[in-house]
Amino acid sequence: MGCAVSGLGLAPKQAAETKKGEDVVAHLTEEQIDMIKESWKVIQEDIAKAGIIMFVRLFETHPECKDVFFLFRDVEDLERLSTSKELRAHGLRVMSFIEKSVARLDQLERLYQLALELGKSHYRYNAPPKYYEYVGSEFICAVQPILKEKWTPELEEAWKALFRYVTQIMKKGFEEEEIKHSHVVVSTKERPDKKNTAL
Ligand code: HEM
Repeated sequence: MGCAVSGLGLAPKQAAETKKGEDVVAHLTEEQIDMIKESWKVIQEDIAKAGIIMFVRLFETHPECKDVFFLFRDVEDLERLSTSKELRAHGLRVMSFIEKSVARLDQLERLYQLALELGKSHYRYNAPPKYYEYVGSEFICAVQPILKEKWTPELEEAWKALFRYVTQIMKKGFEEEEIKHSHVVVSTKERPDKKNTAL
């Protein structure tokens, strides 16, 4: 595999920077935003390939993630998976989310909403936040060879910062959805017809 990226980690909670992002702050400088945008122009030309590599690597390094995918969980042969139409389509969906995130780097409020909704949908997919940071590391490994000598430690740090931001918001969305559903369970228990059964 040959790509060692240290974990993305989570930035400490700090004061609000965006209206809705009370406790999630984008630690991205103007310079980092420009670097990400420039590098995306190159990555964009190879997104289908990068998407597949990213997911095959994810399943290789963290097989527990594969079990979350109904379509892929029973496929043992990762070589075969790399040619699957479904994985290609899924990789493209994720890359297109990254593309939207890059486009919204100047409108963090909109990026926040996008990532929050994605976190909520991942609650429905049963994909827990503890796995999200792996995606950023595998994305970096997948795009490094595309950028060749244009890849620098500073660019790597910029992409890590973006993934840290997005995954923190996704985690928040996941947790909001989790809380919402736990309330639904409580209110079911409190239904009047339920109470009456004890009589
Ligand atoms: C940075 C992290 C991640 C990003 C940006 C991301 C992005 C996406 C996107 C854009 C979709 C398409 C559907 C939608 O928009 O709701 C999706 C679907 C999905 N993701 Fe993720 N994802 C991430 C991490 C993960 C992880 C770690 C897992 C599993 C452990 C996972 C499991 C799934 C599943 C099961 C689906 C639905 C697949 C389907 O039914 O077609 N995701 N993800």
